[in-house]
Amino acid sequence: MDQDIATILFSEDEILKGIDRVAAEVTTAYRDQDFTVVSVLKGSCIFASDLIRRIPIPLELAFVSASSYGDGTESQGLAVNYLPADGEIEGRNLLLVDDILDTGRTLHQLSGELIRRGARDVKACAFLDKPSRRAVPFHADFSCFEVEDLFVVGYGLDYAGRYRNLPFVGALRPELYSSDEDSTEPAAASAD
Ligand code: PRP
Repeated sequence: MDQDIATILFSEDEILKGIDRVAAEVTTAYRDQDFTVVSVLKGSCIFASDLIRRIPIPLELAFVSASSYGDGTESQGLAVNYLPADGEIEGRNLLLVDDILDTGRTLHQLSGELIRRGARDVKACAFLDKPSRRAVPFHADFSCFEVEDLFVVGYGLDYAGRYRNLPFVGALRPELYSSDEDSTEPAAASAD
């Protein structure tokens, strides 16, 4: 996989330092409140698991599943596939945790849906924030890193389902996807 990466943007050490900083901010914000971390599957599972282990106050954990991209590089709208049970939402302070805030549609729509279903408060925490791509107004209450408009993979972020297991965040080599936006597979992804 490594040869498919043009540039490493954030190393493992840099990632953990960024998460330490955000975990401290989250801890301060929720020190006197019950709250539930809601991990947006699939991409945020690695970030959420590192984040919650650095938050030394009580919290609960829940999951939502929403998909906005299909297998290409352009957003194709949002399908909400799974929400927490009503009892995990109603009257709760929820912290939505996602791997990347891109157009903003995923977190905007999920926040609205959770409020409609009775959440007391919904905040958002993004591992990466790509503000140049925003299509709907949405601000993350917490974020680890801002990134420019590159196709980033690793540390949970995928292209066509792959690269999530890279321990760092890297920019995918453009020739692997730029001529192939409607395809369901990278043009020449390595089998490694
Ligand atoms: C990605 C990512 C975010 C969302 C961000 O999810 O994990 O949830 O897109 O994009 P947006 O701000 O433009 O809505 P994807 O649909 O690729 O699913 P995945 O998490 O399973 O990879």
